[in-house]
Amino acid sequence: MSTRPFWLAGAAATGDDEITVTDPYTGKVTGTVAVPSTAQIEQAVAAADSVSAQAAALPAYVRAEALMHVSRRLAERTEEIADIITAESGKPVKWARGEVGRAVSVFRLAAEEARRDSGELQRLDTDAGGTGRIAMIRRVPKGPVLGIAPFNFPLNLVAHKVAPAIAVGAPIILKPAPATPMTALVLGEILAETDLPRGMVSVLPMPNERAAALITDPRLPVISFTGGQFGWELQRTAPHKHITLELGGNAAAVVLADADLDWAARRIALFGNNQAGQVCIGVQRVIVEDAVYDEFVDQLVRRVEELPTGDPRDPATEVGPMINEEAAVRVAAWVEEAVKEGALLLTGGKRDGVTLAPAVLADAPANAKVVREEVFGPVLVVSRVSDVDQAFAEVNSGDFGLQTGVFTRDLQVAFRAHRELEVGGVIIGDVPTFRADQMPYGGVKKSGVGKEGVRPAMDDLTYERVMVMTGVDL
Ligand code: SIN
Repeated sequence: MSTRPFWLAGAAATGDDEITVTDPYTGKVTGTVAVPSTAQIEQAVAAADSVSAQAAALPAYVRAEALMHVSRRLAERTEEIADIITAESGKPVKWARGEVGRAVSVFRLAAEEARRDSGELQRLDTDAGGTGRIAMIRRVPKGPVLGIAPFNFPLNLVAHKVAPAIAVGAPIILKPAPATPMTALVLGEILAETDLPRGMVSVLPMPNERAAALITDPRLPVISFTGGQFGWELQRTAPHKHITLELGGNAAAVVLADADLDWAARRIALFGNNQAGQVCIGVQRVIVEDAVYDEFVDQLVRRVEELPTGDPRDPATEVGPMINEEAAVRVAAWVEEAVKEGALLLTGGKRDGVTLAPAVLADAPANAKVVREEVFGPVLVVSRVSDVDQAFAEVNSGDFGLQTGVFTRDLQVAFRAHRELEVGGVIIGDVPTFRADQMPYGGVKKSGVGKEGVRPAMDDLTYERVMVMTGVDL
């Protein structure tokens, strides 16, 4: 098994170390990837810095054609890439295929946005002082980007960092998650087939500790980070940088008395547990109106027990292993702790190595970790509320605010949810786990700052520069 090279300024390279990637399900070695030396990391940063002006000046069609090339190549290599995602992350292959499909769209959307972006004209003669003047507003890159990606979407969350950067003409250094670097390296290989200037993209796998120098390097003024609460450390370490943080949450699904209970039970069961619950917007808290609580919870438990769990290579599997045994041990311990604190375990919670049987808990105390923290595992915690007021108060009582799902057919309640829930996204009639890749995506409170989604990320990576023309007759 040969070591996969990393991508240093668009060229394949090997370094002074390796990361061994393990298949979470089988425990076997999936492959090894090269890790850059300190000198090679410096080379990548210097290349990004020196190509910055050239990248910003690239014509829209050059950026768009490169992005479309990536989109097409990902589509052509779907099966191969899905297999790699499964082998390094344990993601069930059906979800891995879906992830590749989404990344195909992300690069296509970025190409479309790159072509569409024409800046803005603003008239200034709205007051006497602006007579004869007009403003032209264009967005320019803030500078080279450091993208730090998590393990749970080894391709698509990398795509959400790389594609907007290319679309705006910003160089990017991508640090994939140490557990799942192989998919990002395939993307690096595809990017190297494009006509983008060398230096514009580097993909550098490394252990997290090695990234400290990148985080503080002033030549990388923008950081886009997806991951856990460690993200806030970045703000403390590099306070002068522009930092986007997508840090997950403990997403709630609210089931009101007028909901289609069968649909709600099926969707919540699936999207609390698919990918072993390792999704930032996976359902965790299930808040159910009293009038339908008993009926709904029965249905939910049944649907959870029906979920095909186990081998991620089986195309029917919905719930695969967790990323590693340590994660599975932690989640099982949180479930046990909640039970000790008075919660009722309605099903699941038993660990077999890296796989955890999807759990449903009821009556967990409000301060239990499974309620208050981000579980990031296959655990649903059900609670009973008397009405919509109490349901929305419970959603807002948490420390996080990424997305919430509200199962209702009442339009007024839908608008109220949109008005009152303190989250980045409200999904009416479905789980919080819905994301279309062009949507603004990002949370409030401990869930982070800034937005992803292709256009919002492009805005985030750029600033507005105004040019005022004087002596212009409109
Ligand atoms: C995430 O888990 O952070 C992203 C979820 C998604 O893109 O579907």
